[in-house]
Amino acid sequence: MNHPLPTTPMIAQRGRPLAGRARVPGDKSISHRALILGALAVGGTRISGLLESEDVLNTAKAMQALGARVERIGGGAWRVDGVGVGGFAAPAAALDFGNSGTGCRLVMGAVAGCPIAATFDGDASLRKRPMGRVLAPLTQMGAHFTDAAGNGRLPIALTGASDPMPILYRTPVPSAQIKSAVLLAGLAAPGVTTVIETEASRDHTELMLAHFGAEVTSEPEGGHGRRISLVGQPELAPSAVAVPADPSSAAFPMVAALVAPGSDIFLPDVMTNPLRIGLITTLREMGASIVEEEVRQDGGEAMAGYRVRHSALRGVEVPPHRAPSMIDEYPVLAVAAAFAEGTTVMRGLHELRVKECDRLAATADMLRVNGVDVEISGDDLAVHGRGHAAGGGLVATHMDHRIAMSALVFGLATDRPVKVDDTTFIATSFPDFAGLMRELGGDLQ
Ligand code: S3P
Repeated sequence: MNHPLPTTPMIAQRGRPLAGRARVPGDKSISHRALILGALAVGGTRISGLLESEDVLNTAKAMQALGARVERIGGGAWRVDGVGVGGFAAPAAALDFGNSGTGCRLVMGAVAGCPIAATFDGDASLRKRPMGRVLAPLTQMGAHFTDAAGNGRLPIALTGASDPMPILYRTPVPSAQIKSAVLLAGLAAPGVTTVIETEASRDHTELMLAHFGAEVTSEPEGGHGRRISLVGQPELAPSAVAVPADPSSAAFPMVAALVAPGSDIFLPDVMTNPLRIGLITTLREMGASIVEEEVRQDGGEAMAGYRVRHSALRGVEVPPHRAPSMIDEYPVLAVAAAFAEGTTVMRGLHELRVKECDRLAATADMLRVNGVDVEISGDDLAVHGRGHAAGGGLVATHMDHRIAMSALVFGLATDRPVKVDDTTFIATSFPDFAGLMRELGGDLQ
């Protein structure tokens, strides 16, 4: 299940200011969840604005392999006919999640509550990522697993519980994937499943479960945490889901406009869930001109358009408790930090080490090979910005879409072009990234 695709390098260079309006594709987190909850509901769920990227399409295929009917009825428009909570059938072949930790871990949770066996697999990047973090609570709930290598890595054969047990689980790291896996398994358990997190992570699973009619509560816990409880064995009612634009994808044109002189762009319909906008908070502290317009609410999630103009940025300190609300945005924040005046220190980045690659190291290397002074100290990253950056380097993307996109954004404002070794993995989350950036005026070749 490794990607046999040839590599596709790309070069970004400074050109005109970015200008115009561009809608980035649908939110990846919401897209995965809409497919999974649609598959667990009884009846037909309609989804509009689904992100049709490799990661999400792999989740769609998995739902089909587990017995749901999943049909594309138009661009971004999908219909899922679900099998009901606990109703998945054993898949005929291994489920391949490609590059996606979210798809794999969430579906592990959903399968753990069903009395079936399924094998989970993925590409070379996903095979390196830790699965023990979800298998530990799922085992407590009654699931069993075998991992050929014995190290909690894919491929993993999971057998769901015949009598799933509700648990109270404290997540050892702030992770929406762990929380969601436990809640999805808890759907099939009698009684109340509770997850306690010391730092609140994105709450799309909770919000969408409520949207589908489940009884779920979320209360503050300690300074920055949450206690989430779900009443098991609901009948999930099919519900329409309109997927807003992904703030983690909007982050790329946003930072590009901030650092490319003269730029002025508008990004409509971006989800403004408070647990996803740590990057915007940080960029504003750095002096970024980001103005919200066209604010509205749709399908349980708030969204807004962002007008973003080139801005003089200054270095700031980013506190560790903000990490869960911007966990995917550090590579592109580091790009903004390189163009700021002064040092930006990003604290508490340990979770970056287990993303699609070791993103902490890859982010530092991306900047270093392009002449930026960077230090990693423990879990902290310091970027010493000088208002401009040399560029001229070749960035290794390590099968990581966000490193590839960050490096290309970087090259739109560096003194010399930036080359990226492989852009293939951008298709996992933002298939037309290059097209959208070019439409705004970005010089990508
Ligand atoms: C996601 C959760 C985050 C994030 C990932 C999407 C989700 O991972 O990095 O891109 O949709 O739940 P963790 O929850 O493991 O931090």
